[in-house]
Amino acid sequence: MPRNPNHIKAFSKSADSYDAYNIVQKEVAVALLAKIDYQPRSILDLGAGSGAIYRLIDWELERFVAVDQSPQMCKKHPNDHSIEIICANFDDPLLYEDLGRFDLVISSSALQWSQHLQKTLGQISHHTDHIAFAIFCDKTFETIYRLTKRKSFLPNSAELLQSVDKYFDIEHEIKEYQLTFEDNLSKFRYIKRSGVSGGDRQLSYTETKKLIQAYPLEYLEFEVIFVWGRSKKS
Ligand SMILES: C[S@@+](CC[C@H](N)C(=O)[O-])C[C@H]1O[C@@H](n2cnc3c(N)ncnc32)[C@H](O)[C@@H]1O
Repeated sequence: MPRNPNHIKAFSKSADSYDAYNIVQKEVAVALLAKIDYQPRSILDLGAGSGAIYRLIDWELERFVAVDQSPQMCKKHPNDHSIEIICANFDDPLLYEDLGRFDLVISSSALQWSQHLQKTLGQISHHTDHIAFAIFCDKTFETIYRLTKRKSFLPNSAELLQSVDKYFDIEHEIKEYQLTFEDNLSKFRYIKRSGVSGGDRQLSYTETKKLIQAYPLEYLEFEVIFVWGRSKKS
């Protein structure tokens, strides 16, 4: 499938607000929901955060279960009679006990944090016939990783497709986003605060300073794979 670079401008003046730090994730949530051409009545949202997916749903729901391991995020999620908020790790098999079945399991900008995605996908497959995932992949911050000679902790899109394909008949699309900044310092501030960085080895002060001086692009790069489809057994 063709890759569509999506260009987003986030200038340094506005980049200090909470919304600006989630600008790519917000776009991703909108693009993910656009893949769903039916109206699932029961939805399990893994890594639901402050409710980007729930807030975009404009049809009536019977049950919406939002899972997030961060208590702060769980507090920010909308809450009403049709919503259950579970503060838990989506990799934990105990989460799935007695959870029931859902018309759709969705996850936007979160499954890249899974410690064992294959196993978690197996769990998910017992609870739904339909999935829709948007997952950040290893071309995110590609130039930074190249300059610092580090390996991304994010999953590779081809490997990820193989994993999902074991359980689900899927369609997919890979989108590249470019987020433009006024200067390099703003870019690195964004990375620090956005929650899309990670990995075990953080750069030292000197390494960061060198990187800020050497970074050649006006924008940061993001790669997101969208996968959606139905269970192989259905
Ligand atoms: C980038 S945010 C995305 C939030 C929301 N889905 C959105 O589209 O705005 C990723 C969320 O995944 C949650 N998360 C990361 N790893 C998780 C895990 N293993 N189990 C449950 N939630 C997790 C984080 O706490 C965070 O709220």
